[in-house]
Amino acid sequence: MQIEFPPLQNDTILRAARGEVTSHVPVWIMRQAGRYLPEYRALRATEEFFTVVRTPELATEITLQPIERFPLDAAIIFSDILVVPQAMGLEVQMIKGRGPVFPEPLAHPDDLKRLVEPDVKKELGYVYDALTLTRKTLNGRVPLIGFCGAPWTLMAYMIEGGGSKTFSKSKSWLFKYPKDSHSLLQAITDVLIDYVIAQVDSGAQLIQVFDSWAGLLSPRAFNEFALPYLKQIATALERERPEVPKTVFAKGAHYALESLSEAGYNVVGLDWTMDPRQARERVQGKVALQGNMDPCMLYAPPEAIRQEVKSILQQFGEGGYIANLGHGMHPDHDPEHARVFIESVHEFSQKEHMSL
Ligand code: CP3
Repeated sequence: MQIEFPPLQNDTILRAARGEVTSHVPVWIMRQAGRYLPEYRALRATEEFFTVVRTPELATEITLQPIERFPLDAAIIFSDILVVPQAMGLEVQMIKGRGPVFPEPLAHPDDLKRLVEPDVKKELGYVYDALTLTRKTLNGRVPLIGFCGAPWTLMAYMIEGGGSKTFSKSKSWLFKYPKDSHSLLQAITDVLIDYVIAQVDSGAQLIQVFDSWAGLLSPRAFNEFALPYLKQIATALERERPEVPKTVFAKGAHYALESLSEAGYNVVGLDWTMDPRQARERVQGKVALQGNMDPCMLYAPPEAIRQEVKSILQQFGEGGYIANLGHGMHPDHDPEHARVFIESVHEFSQKEHMSL
């Protein structure tokens, strides 16, 4: 059964994702809902991270916080990539000052027996409810982005048990236990495919896949252990829900830009280490691009941010472009500097400015 939603009033991000030239460049920011916002910190003072994620009313409230403040062109559902490992049977805690921690990570291929094949409708139902409530509450103001972690990034967390400097435990699995690694990656991919399709059915209007740890891999390891699974997700979404554009953000994967532009996604997200003009040349118009201002640029004075935005817009050029940072907001960023970024993207990309 299809849910009825209010008509969309601003579809610039969806059209830019399809490569179109739009009246202005659409902009959103990774981690636009988060600790740099005082209203987020106020809510988190009394509620656990995963309680917020699992309570649709709270997830909706936080998703809308940056939308109420700034003229953003998209909302992204407040959730986390680690809800999928949780649904597959692993416990994940969010520890203040440390980030996510898995008390019992996968230590050996024998541990794969501990994973369950989840009924995603049941185990992740709270995400779908949050998407539906948020989409209704947005009332068509801007599109709602759904997301998931990429198979390799999720595998890395499931084995590492949290963040790590070298990720040597998860990377050594690839080389010590390649067969088991592929079984794990395939099991994660199967869950993710059901998960993102159900996100679309619940209200997501664009899906972004975060491969945050792609940059840890050699090109050869990426081609064997990351890319085929990213392709499976894009292919399944294209087959099942072709109306919804798809973005892949593989942080640090410079070497993979050409292959990512042919992996079935509409948009490729870039981190700040990549040159926009070279990236445009390398993808040959096959995909739209998203990014890529260095998040640390937001510590600069407003006028410096404005000049950087102007330069980035010129370098990406017209059409098929979604402005964003090259990674997420930091907790100590000044919200007013995020506003400068967002507003100057709009100001400098309005049609009459492009010819100046
Ligand atoms: O606004 C948004 O972007 C939507 C919400 C969102 C969160 N996590 C909320 C969150 C999204 C899209 C994510 C994705 C996510 N989660 C990624 C991929 C993006 C990336 O940053 O590379 C990853 C790797 C995670 C795993 C994760 N969750 C980590 C490593 C951490 C701790 C690091 C940190 O920034 O604190 C989290 C916690 C987390 N997820 C927070 C938020 C707002 C902060 C938690 C808090 O409130 O204490």
